[in-house]
Amino acid sequence: MSEFLLELFYIVGCVTFIIGLRKLSSPDSARQGNNIAAAGMTLAILGTILFHKNEAGEGIGNLAWIVGGLVVGSAIGYVMATRVKMTAMPQMVSFFNGTGGATSAIIACMEFFSSDSTDWGFLLVAYLGIVVGTVTFSGSMVAYGKLDDKIKDVSGRLMTYLNWLMLAVILVLMTMGILSPETLGANGGWILLGLSFLYGIFFVMPIGGADMPVVIALLNSLSGIAGAFGGLIYSNRIMLIGGILVGASGLILTALMCKAMNRSLMNVLIGGFGGGSAGSAKASGEQSYREVTLNDAAIMCAYASKVCIVPGYGLAVAQAQHVCHDFEKSLEKKGVEVYYAIHPVAGRMPGHMNVLLAEADVPYPKLVEMDDANPQMPNTDVVIIVGANDVVNPAAEDDPGSPIYGMPVIKVWEAKSVIVMKRSMRPGYAGIENPLFFHERAKMLFGDAKDTLSKLVGELKNL
Ligand code: TAP
Repeated sequence: MSEFLLELFYIVGCVTFIIGLRKLSSPDSARQGNNIAAAGMTLAILGTILFHKNEAGEGIGNLAWIVGGLVVGSAIGYVMATRVKMTAMPQMVSFFNGTGGATSAIIACMEFFSSDSTDWGFLLVAYLGIVVGTVTFSGSMVAYGKLDDKIKDVSGRLMTYLNWLMLAVILVLMTMGILSPETLGANGGWILLGLSFLYGIFFVMPIGGADMPVVIALLNSLSGIAGAFGGLIYSNRIMLIGGILVGASGLILTALMCKAMNRSLMNVLIGGFGGGSAGSAKASGEQSYREVTLNDAAIMCAYASKVCIVPGYGLAVAQAQHVCHDFEKSLEKKGVEVYYAIHPVAGRMPGHMNVLLAEADVPYPKLVEMDDANPQMPNTDVVIIVGANDVVNPAAEDDPGSPIYGMPVIKVWEAKSVIVMKRSMRPGYAGIENPLFFHERAKMLFGDAKDTLSKLVGELKNL
């Protein structure tokens, strides 16, 4: 009976993971999806505590440790999640990925070091659990440090060679450990553990700080794969399915992010643009740009019939989401139709703009995805760009020599007029010049996004 109940709890848990994942794909259902999957996970843990029996028919012991761990872990997670700033979200995700990887590595180590099995299947899964879990842990902690500006990029050809060498040694050792378990014995496990720890650090170290979100999605996927190995070791279906779902969704996200930046994963991993030092702005040469005053910008927007706001990384830096919503409401009061055009990689993490604007209570239907926004551009009177740069760069469309050539962008230059709100002529993440700033229909409005938007709201009140 308890076996039946355990399976039932696990099946319900798995179904909730799938429903949760599905709901995460839209901002308005994401919170609900998260709660559903969390409820499923709670059910799976409860089911295991109540109904799991070992081969001797004994239930789960060590209840005090389990409950203690759950209480302490939940309290830490709760405090971290409620206190984290929106801009520090990638760091937190990275930290949590790392703890997931460490947990899977500990499971694999415990089973490996306490067993004298020479079964190749067991050894393969245990070694993979140790390697993938440990690489995820040390790699995620370095990613956390880099995102938090505590660790600087260290790159160079030597680093690449060293990484390939370490990976090769890890693979050779694993193969030896499986084919001839007696030769390596427990030492093999310790050596692999140490090497994987170093490899995680060395693998993430050379990657440009700004490319970290892609690496974090990849490490997230690895943490799921490591969890799936734990599921294989324990023949636990929910751990296996949960791990596979995290592994697969992380990989899909990594691929989508690379596609939206028009870069290959290899290019991100061995460093293309974005490493801060990697890209450099071209001189603006003879071209000149035009500026618009606050008053003129307010008039242009107030007397337009359709205005599009394109948010970017600068909106997040300035924490201007609330005042941006005020600006949008002020325009609507004047009878202007307002929508937001959202680029999939605007900002520095997946869904960055959606999360920020949702925090400011901007209604979801106002957020128009790039593919739906682009056909609306010719009918839009004014596009106002708030701290975005690469995602509106026309070079992606018409300059085959540009590093971002081929990256899908929001075609703001097709609108009747464009106002670019940023602090200077400095480039964005890709480190390249943006010809949009010199376009005949574009005007610059310099200043911090939050400050400029609140002044614009003030101007609108006086019109
Ligand atoms: P960026 O191209 O990075 O441009 C942001 C602009 O915001 C900068 O040019 C900056 O100009 C301006 N800015 C910064 N602080 C500001 C402030 N306080 N007030 C006003 N403006 C401010 O951003 P984007 O257009 O959002 O493009 C995102 C880039 O990140 C893409 O290249 C994308 O590939 C990359 N990326 C995204 C992700 C994800 S998943 N979102 C992951 C990795 C990489 P000033 O300094 O002159 O103000």
